[in-house]
Amino acid sequence: MTDPRPMRVFSGVQPTANAHLGNYLGAIRRFVPLQDEGECIFCVVDLHAVTVPQDPKMLAAQTREIAAVYMAAGIDPARSIIFVQSSVSAHAELAWLLNCVARMGWLERMTQFKEKSGENAERSSVGLFAYPVLMAADILAYRATHVPVGEDQKQHLELARDIAARFNKEFKAEDHFPLPAPLIGATAARVMNLQDGTKKMSKSDPAELSRINLADSDDVIVRKMKKARTDAEPLPLDVAGLAGRPEVDNLVGIYAALSDLSKQAVLDEFAGAGFGVFKPRLADLAVSVLAPVREAMQVYLADPAQLDALLRDGSLKADVIARPILQQTREAMGFWS
Ligand code: TRP
Repeated sequence: MTDPRPMRVFSGVQPTANAHLGNYLGAIRRFVPLQDEGECIFCVVDLHAVTVPQDPKMLAAQTREIAAVYMAAGIDPARSIIFVQSSVSAHAELAWLLNCVARMGWLERMTQFKEKSGENAERSSVGLFAYPVLMAADILAYRATHVPVGEDQKQHLELARDIAARFNKEFKAEDHFPLPAPLIGATAARVMNLQDGTKKMSKSDPAELSRINLADSDDVIVRKMKKARTDAEPLPLDVAGLAGRPEVDNLVGIYAALSDLSKQAVLDEFAGAGFGVFKPRLADLAVSVLAPVREAMQVYLADPAQLDALLRDGSLKADVIARPILQQTREAMGFWS
């Protein structure tokens, strides 16, 4: 069913680490074509990052790096809003109001909190528990209609809908917050660890060979692709043959995402080839896609004053949208003003 509403897209990426292939293929690359479909707002969510400890000396650098990746990937700051979450105070203010709408029981069901807090939920920050409410505030502060997210964020988006619906009902403000719809890309690439296909590609893995950073040189990309773990069998003829071969599945998935093909189309192309053939082709493809992104990123990062000016401009534009929505929310709740 097509959504009749004019589209306002909101999404966010955390500045928790140096950007890698997973951030790019799984999220940022998929945002780019949305600019042709609606108004787009892309945020670097630093308030979410600090729900777990961050090195204060690194945080600002990582924030600029994600902003640079957005732009290097093709998000155009003249058409879309790119900004830093903590610089628009409506996010934190609305999050508090929504903390008083969301229920403990709803948050206790969040699987990401259970995973991230592990055995030690009692020692997690309160912020980590309330993380999904802040995410709801991000979206609702703009009355965003569509939110591109990976599978792992679907539950948080459902919570944002529940919070919006409860607010509208409790404060008898029908349609105050539109219910945001997820945009889960058909080829939403979940990029896995190159040495262990059962784990997500992540900055925190000590093995450099496990991931491709967006800052990696061409030579490093080629070497990491060559050393990626595989098995002794050739590529299967169809997608069903990828079952039980997580590393192979991951490399085929990366090839598919980099070339905008389905996994089956990739397997058709390589029908039964060995990795001696496939890996060099994958490495070439990765270099051809990533080198221009890296070079554009370096240009943005080389001029932090210019980058900061772009981000400040983004904050102003974001604030113009969010401020009146926050004000209307305050009024619906009966705050003095
Ligand atoms: N929680 C998201 C993630 O880790 C990031 C995020 C924060 C986000 N606020 C958002 C995504 C709002 C979409 C919309 O991937």
